Amino acid sequence: MTVKELFDSMDYGPAPESAAEALAWLVDMGDRFGHFIDGAFTAPGAGFESKNPATGEVLATITQATQTDVDAAVKAARKAQPKWEKLGGPGRARYLYAIARLLQKHARLFAVLETLDNGKPIRESRDIDVPLAQRHFYYHAGMAQLMEEVLPGRAALGVCGQIIPWNFPLLMLAWKVAPALAMGNTVVLKPAEYTSLTALLFADICTQAGLPRGVVNIVTGDGAVGEMIVAAEVDKIAFTGSTSVGRRIREATAGSGKALTLELGGKSPYIVFDDADLDSAIEGLVDAIWFNQGQVCCAGSRLLVQESVAETFHARLIARMDKLRIGNPLDKCIDVGAVVDPVQLATIRGMVEANTAGQVHQADIALPAGGCYYPPTLITGLAPSDRLMQEEIFGPVLVSCTFRTPAEAVELANNSRYGLAATVWTENVNLALDIAPKLAAGVVWVNATNLFDAAAGFGGVRESGFGREGGWEGLAAYTRPVGKAKALKPVESFSGSGAPADPIDRTAKLYVGGKQARPDGGYSRPVWGKGGALLGHVGLANRKDVRNAVEAAQGAAAWGRATGHLRAQILYYIAENLSARAGEFAHRLDAITGARHGAREVEASIQRLFTYAAWADKYDGRVHSVPIRGVALAMNEPVGVIGALCADEAPLLGLVSVMAPALAMGNRVVLVASEPFPLAATDFYQVLDTSDVPGGVVNILTGSHAELAAPLAGHLNLDAVWSFSSTPLSKAVEAASAGNLKRSWVNNALARDWFANDSAEWLAQASEVKNIWVPYGE
Ligand code: NAI
Repeated sequence: MTVKELFDSMDYGPAPESAAEALAWLVDMGDRFGHFIDGAFTAPGAGFESKNPATGEVLATITQATQTDVDAAVKAARKAQPKWEKLGGPGRARYLYAIARLLQKHARLFAVLETLDNGKPIRESRDIDVPLAQRHFYYHAGMAQLMEEVLPGRAALGVCGQIIPWNFPLLMLAWKVAPALAMGNTVVLKPAEYTSLTALLFADICTQAGLPRGVVNIVTGDGAVGEMIVAAEVDKIAFTGSTSVGRRIREATAGSGKALTLELGGKSPYIVFDDADLDSAIEGLVDAIWFNQGQVCCAGSRLLVQESVAETFHARLIARMDKLRIGNPLDKCIDVGAVVDPVQLATIRGMVEANTAGQVHQADIALPAGGCYYPPTLITGLAPSDRLMQEEIFGPVLVSCTFRTPAEAVELANNSRYGLAATVWTENVNLALDIAPKLAAGVVWVNATNLFDAAAGFGGVRESGFGREGGWEGLAAYTRPVGKAKALKPVESFSGSGAPADPIDRTAKLYVGGKQARPDGGYSRPVWGKGGALLGHVGLANRKDVRNAVEAAQGAAAWGRATGHLRAQILYYIAENLSARAGEFAHRLDAITGARHGAREVEASIQRLFTYAAWADKYDGRVHSVPIRGVALAMNEPVGVIGALCADEAPLLGLVSVMAPALAMGNRVVLVASEPFPLAATDFYQVLDTSDVPGGVVNILTGSHAELAAPLAGHLNLDAVWSFSSTPLSKAVEAASAGNLKRSWVNNALARDWFANDSAEWLAQASEVKNIWVPYGE
């Protein structure tokens, strides 16, 4: 293209970035990579080729790790961990800071290598991936520095296994490695098989930073290596990738005691109201769905546009699509680069070709010959239930449907099994701030999209996974309370054969929807005291009762919208009513458990209620100063409906300890009472009845924990499941939770001191952080 032609067309001329330095680095490394274990590269072994998706050219050969390699990496990480943790936060901060500096120094090399390996435009790797990776290390250098001061009583988890995808290879590495190292953990990380090169360059950076050997270990290979890491003796698995693999990891780690965070897929809504600045919303869409060729977990891939402006919006969008520049990713003028691999390209093509609904518009631009290119695509006129409106395409394909009212927009937006991110576009601040809290998403962008920062947590709800990366909440996933818990022994029911003290039928029922309910199966069992006296009968709940209780809890969603002040009032009222009957409950607890600490347990239960009543209007969110013209509001939201198997050993306090924080944060609960000592819970119904607790907010079942664990944990309308049962059910509960990837919190057969309280832990488990990015200021 001549300068004259450029002047005539006002088009962009080619501006290629040089690949020389990156290619030279590959040559220096011998074009063949082993793993990075215990501070050194291993000899390259059998493996696979890593190719440039824009050209098909082979960049390097990567080694497929064997079990021996993974074992060696885990062993190195284990050996290095205690010393790394003992170095202390400020000591570790120096290393993180050094890594950040080196990432900055070698920014161009990283950006070019990333673009060569992944196919993303150099503009993105240079201006987004690499700077955000640096930012993550700087931010977490600060977190390491402050750890002892701001997180007293927290310790490192130990060795973290980290498995990352190919869409943001270096950035996902930074999201995983920086917080783990900051908190004193060591890591074994596996990059995705398509894109291992920047992780291997990062290994080189660790050496340059003088990082103690074994602190960072990188093994390469495919999903089979991922499975080996999941099965290894590690203390945590952090995974980012597809929902199907995330589910398998949930099942594989169930009951293992390994901490788990999953950052999975999405089908994020991009909502455009009729008063929006439509041109800005269209530019936003370019960033939402054509950023990184749409291979972004939080891509705004589902356009919901208000009917009144849909026609003009689509027309303008199509015109904009035709102006997108697609081509050599190393060209600094390119908007859309290459899809990561021919396999991914075939998946995208297959999904679009299989679709017969709506109207397909593909950008009217010539695709470069060779290489994995797919044209920017828009499919309009889809119905909410169409496959492409529901399934993640993970390519540059936007699907669209219309809505009429804000309520319909929310309904359509939430009509998804995913809940990662959402974008709201409107000039009306009241509307934006009305809609944002109603969206099932971990991140909401107002009049902006795809904004990320180390200070703002990122992660989803529903089948988009659980746990957050970044911000304060991200740190919790890399620490544990100090101290070692003792094993929890199963607590047995007493047996007996005596007749009841009086002839009145005392079969306690279940408590569902604010009413006492007979168990569906009609079965009950006798409950004996320590000396063999018959204390009463208790109903045995079954699968159907679980369903009824969850339904009742779902129906009480208004509790989540009640003010913290109101929730506090009701918790105080429960405490007051329990207090009025303290003597009676204490006496009864002594008879039920045969222990003599009934009075202490009642008093602790009252205190627990007071504590969470106090918290109900004080567990505030945060305002993050993120580097945009605006703020990110980290709002604590209720998780939803929480099901819990309550502690056997503390029948009243265990139940209250679960119920109080859950209610304080706006959740509804389905509680399965202590199995051996259920009568403490059934007596408690009357306290609830007299305390203005709305029906359905608290539901209590009695029966066998072993029988109720799977129906409860597997229920698809439950948002979280907790188990403090003394029956070893952690594995069953976590495995059953994999269905809808609900959050789980289990005791792993370890004892908890119910008389001690850790509000921070309970409040965090009972809430979900939503980061709402709001433009603010000039
Ligand atoms: P994937 O989920 O299979 O791969 C992600 C990572 O997990 C890779 O490092 C892979 O080697 C590893 N892995 C695969 N199977 C594993 C197993 N059984 N145990 C442990 N680790 C395992 O994603 P894939 O196949 O690369 O992409 C398929 C689809 O997944 C995409 O089309 C997209 O829809 C989705 N995806 C979502 C991502 C996100 O950020 N949420 C990222 C990448 C893919």
